[in-house]
This record gives sequence, structure tokens and C-alpha cells, in this order.
Amino acid sequence: MPIISIEGLSKTYAGGFQALKSIDLAIEKGEIFALLGPNGAGKTTLIGIICGLVRMTAGRVTADGHDIQKDFRAARAKIGLVPQEISTDAFETVWDTVKFSRGLFGKAPNPAYLEKVLKDLSLWDKKDAKIQTLSGGMKRRVMIAKALSHEPTILFLDEPTAGVDVELRRDMWEMVRGLRANGVTIILTTHYIEEAEEMADRIGVISQGELILVEDKQVLMRKLGKKQLTLHLQEPLATVPAGLEDYQLALANDGADLVYSFDAQAESTGIAELMKRLAERGIDFKDLQTQESSLEDIFVSLVRGARA
Ligand SMILES: Nc1ncnc2c1ncn2[C@@H]1O[C@H](COP(=O)(O)OP(=O)(O)O)[C@@H](O)[C@H]1O
Ligand SMILES: [Mg+2]
Repeated sequence: MPIISIEGLSKTYAGGFQALKSIDLAIEKGEIFALLGPNGAGKTTLIGIICGLVRMTAGRVTADGHDIQKDFRAARAKIGLVPQEISTDAFETVWDTVKFSRGLFGKAPNPAYLEKVLKDLSLWDKKDAKIQTLSGGMKRRVMIAKALSHEPTILFLDEPTAGVDVELRRDMWEMVRGLRANGVTIILTTHYIEEAEEMADRIGVISQGELILVEDKQVLMRKLGKKQLTLHLQEPLATVPAGLEDYQLALANDGADLVYSFDAQAESTGIAELMKRLAERGIDFKDLQTQESSLEDIFVSLVRGARA
């Protein structure tokens, strides 16, 4: 059974704007799932519904078997949420903040657990510091510690590294992997392709309230991946030579490069035949390189396709 099951989930905000359009999605226990989409796609709305901050218009969601509407407290107790915006009480200490947050879920005190959480997040030596004295990166970690304070098995991270420097982003990724190793299921939203590519086991692409694709990351990159062969020509060309129309060719770099795009999954790449035809036309090249499309290319073409 999936740890989170979403069926026919729709959201229309007061005023009539439809932010989610019948989303179906199952999150498996123990995975890192990245919900990837541009700003305004509906990521925060989706998380808000699952965490009880936004009311759904239609659909059904369960978390660890508990219906989030009929059995909200039980469902919510399984969930930790690190919201997009940092919001903590600046005058509290780190320790009091996590202790209080745990209490909100009616959990018995467990100082040993909270100590471990703070140590895992490199916050232990700051436990008595007031939050206002911490750096931005540390405040973000406090948000995570708060979200973990009641021992959730599902953690939502809404844009965890938006506006965060590269180093902290790496730390954050490492920490997320550590949480998964401890058995926590992680759903993160991001509009950074790199983040999804780096972190996720599976990726869901959301655009204008529609989940347009859900796929294993490796499969996605293989399935939709195009390869490019770039030939650095001896003599620049003004136009793509005649008789090569059945190849997807383009000139780049003022005609100095001939770029051939092909499907990396195809039975035959067509490269051998292309080389032969180029030789027949006396087109020589000094060097060549191949390049695989990144998740970024795939994403851009998907979102463009969905809007077309
Ligand atoms: N409270 C609200 N009332 C009306 N529209 C909203 C509200 N919250 C979000 N929206 C709209 O819903 C869409 C999705 O927003 P959001 O879920 O925040 O997207 P994302 O997190 O992917 O950037 C946006 O067009 C946004 O303007
Ligand atoms: Mg958002």
C-alpha cells in the first residue's frame, strides 16, 4: 500500500481559480519523490491540502492509511512539514521550539529523540541559542528539526533550497538522504531541475495544476533523453546540405558546427549512414562530440508540450 495515496484531487480557490486538476498520485514508502514544476504550478497547494492547511474541493487523500479528512489528526501525526516560508518564534530557543512543536502533536516528551534530531542537523551546540541569533541556513535547519519533532514517517519539504547558497543546498541534500536512510519518506517540491535530478527516486512534473507525468528518474531520463552529435567542421557551411532532409540537422556556431539530434533509445542512431552521406558530399570535420539531453531539456519540452 502506498504511504500517500491521492485520488481525483482538485482545488478551486475562492474566486474561481482552479489550482489543481484531478491529481492522482501514489507515493511509495521510503522514496524521495520530487514534485517539479514552475512557480504557480500548484505545488504548495497540493502540499497544503495534504497537511490540512488548504481545503480540497474534490478528491481523497490518505496518509499511512488514514483519510486526511475523516481522520485528520491521525493522518497529520504521521506528517512533518517544512513550509516554503521560514516562520519561527524568533525569541524562543532552538530547544524550546522543538520541544513545544512535539507537544502540539500530543507526543510524550522524548529528550533523547530531540537530541538526536538536533545532532543530525548540526544544531546541538545551538540548542540554547535564541532563533533570531541564528544564520539563515541554521533557521532552515530549525524548521526541519521542528517538522521532525513528533517523529513523522512522511516529510514534506516545500522548496527546501529556494534562495539557499550552494553549500547549504548540498548539506540539505545530504541530510535528506540521511532521513530516507532512517526510513522517512520524503516529498519535496522544487522548481530547480538540478535538485530533482540530484535527489529524487521518482519525479512528478506538475504544470498549471496538472500532473503531466510521473516517472522513475532514471527511466525518465532514458525514455525522453535525446542525444546530440556535434561535428566541428573543417569548413563552415552556409546551409544544411541538400539530400540530408531525413536527418534532424542544424547548423550552429556560425555554420562551423553541424548538430545532429537523435533518439538515444532508437534501434539505430543513423550515425553511420550520416557519416557516409557527409563524406560523399566532401564535408569533413575536425572533431566531434556527443551530448545527452539533461532533465532540464526534458522538462522544458514537457511543459511546453502541455501548454501547446
Ligand atoms: N489562497 C489563494 N487564493 C487564490 N489563488 C491562490 C491561492 N493560493 C495560491 N493561489 C494560486 O494557485 C496557483 C498555484 O499556487 P501554488 O500552489 O502556490 O503554486 P507553486 O507552489 O507551484 O508555486 C497560483 O496561480 C496561485 O496564484
Ligand atoms: Mg510553492
